[in-house]
Amino acid sequence: MGEQEFLWEPAKYVEFGDHRNRPFLDLTSRIGAAAPRAVVDLGCGPGNLTATLSARWPGASVLGIDSSAAMVAEAQKLATPHDGVASAAASPHSAPGLAFARGDIADWHPGPDTDVVVSNAALQWVPGHLELMSGWLAELRPGAWLGVQVPGNFGAPSHMLMRELAASQRWRRQLDGVLRHDDAVAEPGDYLELLLRGGLRADVWETTYNQLLPGENPVLEWVRGTGLRPVLAALGSDSAEFEREYSALLAQAYPRGEHGTIFPFRRIFMVGEKQ
Ligand SMILES: C[S@@+](CC[C@H](N)C(=O)[O-])C[C@H]1O[C@@H](n2cnc3c(N)ncnc32)[C@H](O)[C@@H]1O
Repeated sequence: MGEQEFLWEPAKYVEFGDHRNRPFLDLTSRIGAAAPRAVVDLGCGPGNLTATLSARWPGASVLGIDSSAAMVAEAQKLATPHDGVASAAASPHSAPGLAFARGDIADWHPGPDTDVVVSNAALQWVPGHLELMSGWLAELRPGAWLGVQVPGNFGAPSHMLMRELAASQRWRRQLDGVLRHDDAVAEPGDYLELLLRGGLRADVWETTYNQLLPGENPVLEWVRGTGLRPVLAALGSDSAEFEREYSALLAQAYPRGEHGTIFPFRRIFMVGEKQ
C-alpha cells in the first residue's frame, strides 16, 4: 500500500475529466439497485465519481476506498460532514452519506448490508483480481449488484511501446519488473464466466472510445496520470530522458491531426445482480 502513495497525483489524474468520467457513468447507469443500504467504490481515486453514487442514492452509506493517501485526502474534501457521535472517521460506513477511507482492495470483503459494489479503472492494478472477485461474489447477498470496469488496452500501442522501451537495453536494469504485462486484465468472456459462476445475472460488454485529445503530446499527458506512474516513480531523476524517448514513439503511433489526436481506448465492463 505504501508504494501506491507516491504513484498517484490527484490533480494530474483528473485532467481529461470527461474522457475519464464517461466509462464510470456508462458503467453505473446499468446498475439497477433501487434503494441500496451500503454502496462501496473500490479504488475510488479523487472521489468525484464516488460522489455521483451518493447523489443517486441519498439514503445509502457510500464508502470510497483507495490505497493512495493523496487520493483519499483529496476525496475527503467531498465527504459528508457528520456531527456528534456518528463520526464518519470513527465508522466510515455507519451513517448515510459519503465517506472515504484508506485501504487495500485486496483486504476488502462485502458486509451483510453491501448492496452495490463498484470498481472503475482500479482492479487492473490488483494482482489476482479475478480470484478476489470470485470471493466477493460468493459473499454477496442475493439482490446485491456488482459493477466493474477495467481498461482493455494493454495491447494498445501506448502500452506496448512503454513496455518495449522499458525492456530495451538502456532501461531494462532500472525497470525490470516495474510494468504489468498484457495479461493484467482478462477478456470479456472470462469475466462473463466468472459472474455467471458466481450466481449473477450478468451483462458484460466492451467499448472502444475514440477519444479526441487536444494539445501537444496528449497521449503522454494521459499516461502520466495512470499507466506511466510506476515508471516515473522507479526512475526518479531519469524520468525526463525516458519520457523524451517514449514521447517520440507515441508521436509516430498517434499522429496529431487537424482536429487533435485520436487516442482509441478499449474498456471492458461487467454488471450483474446476485440471484
Ligand atoms: C485509474 S484510478 C481510478 C480512480 C477512480 N475509480 C475513477 O474512476 O476515477 C485507480 C485508483 O485505484 C487505486 N488503487 C490501485 N491499487 C489499489 C489497491 N490495491 N487498493 C486500493 N486502491 C487501489 C489507485 O490509488 C487509484 O486511485
